[in-house]
Amino acid sequence: MGGIDKVGVVGCGLMGAGIAEVCARAGLQVVVVEANVALAAAGRARLEASLARAEQRGKIEDAGAVLARIDVVTDLDGLADRGLVIEAIVEDAATKVELFGRLDELVTSPDAIFASNTSSIPIARIAAATSRPSQVLGIHFFNPAPVLSLVELIPSLLTAPETVDRAAAFVEGVGKHAIRCRDRAGFVVNSLLVPYVLSAIRMLEGGFATAEDIDTGMVRGAAHPQGPLALADLIGLDTLKAVADSLYREFKEPHYAPPPLLSRMVDAGLLGRKTGRGFFGYEPTAAG
Ligand code: NAI
Repeated sequence: MGGIDKVGVVGCGLMGAGIAEVCARAGLQVVVVEANVALAAAGRARLEASLARAEQRGKIEDAGAVLARIDVVTDLDGLADRGLVIEAIVEDAATKVELFGRLDELVTSPDAIFASNTSSIPIARIAAATSRPSQVLGIHFFNPAPVLSLVELIPSLLTAPETVDRAAAFVEGVGKHAIRCRDRAGFVVNSLLVPYVLSAIRMLEGGFATAEDIDTGMVRGAAHPQGPLALADLIGLDTLKAVADSLYREFKEPHYAPPPLLSRMVDAGLLGRKTGRGFFGYEPTAAG
């Protein structure tokens, strides 16, 4: 897998937990770092719930064996010996830049690859925070990572071709399909998907139709597996808004601007599935 057997993941939220699961299911040994003990416990619960579901559905034989390959810790020093570190923390450029600076100081392997799962922040900006920008790229998984097979690989202007090749071997090794894209906010999929989801929010805001009818329209009329507002709730409205803000900042095109309803819902803490209420209501789960 591109010579990588020890993987580190930073952040054990929706995406970090999913990425850790994908790696451990492929036999890799994974250290995941969360911000504090309570969040690490919540992250581990998320992993346990997801792996139990995978076992029940016959996708894996032994959830316990997969879980045994994952350590969830709170100290970044646990990443010192990793050959690949994938960052999946909050979608905020300053926070990511600070983290990559710290990773650069503590990861000892000279050929380690640093990856970001960002949906919209320039990889070049993240890479510039390190002394090894040729070893930094975007490895962008999709939600839920254990289920969706696509990964976008995003080299920056500074990424070495060898880094991209090794990352591609890693992605193939964990059973995913890679497409390559330039370092532009949104890459391929979010550049297409985010304006669509924002249009649905504008439709709701403008009173065109109810949330249920907008989603039913796309499920029954376009054979989408879920409607755009349910998808927004799955992504997390804070993350969706952060990605829309980045796209708008990059391209200045109105269809990327977050509609006021999205901003107000984020202000109100209505973030979708992860808080139990977004455009729709959700039962709380053990994984939060
Ligand atoms: P999330 O809010 O579910 O999880 C982020 C986690 O990172 C939280 O648990 C938080 O405690 C932790 N964290 C924050 N700062 C940290 C630090 N300094 N050290 C360790 N842990 C820290 O967010 P989500 O949805 O998992 O997104 C993470 C990244 O993945 C973002 O860059 C997002 O744009 C990207 N992404 C999100 C997708 C989605 O559908 N939600 C899809 C693909 C990419």
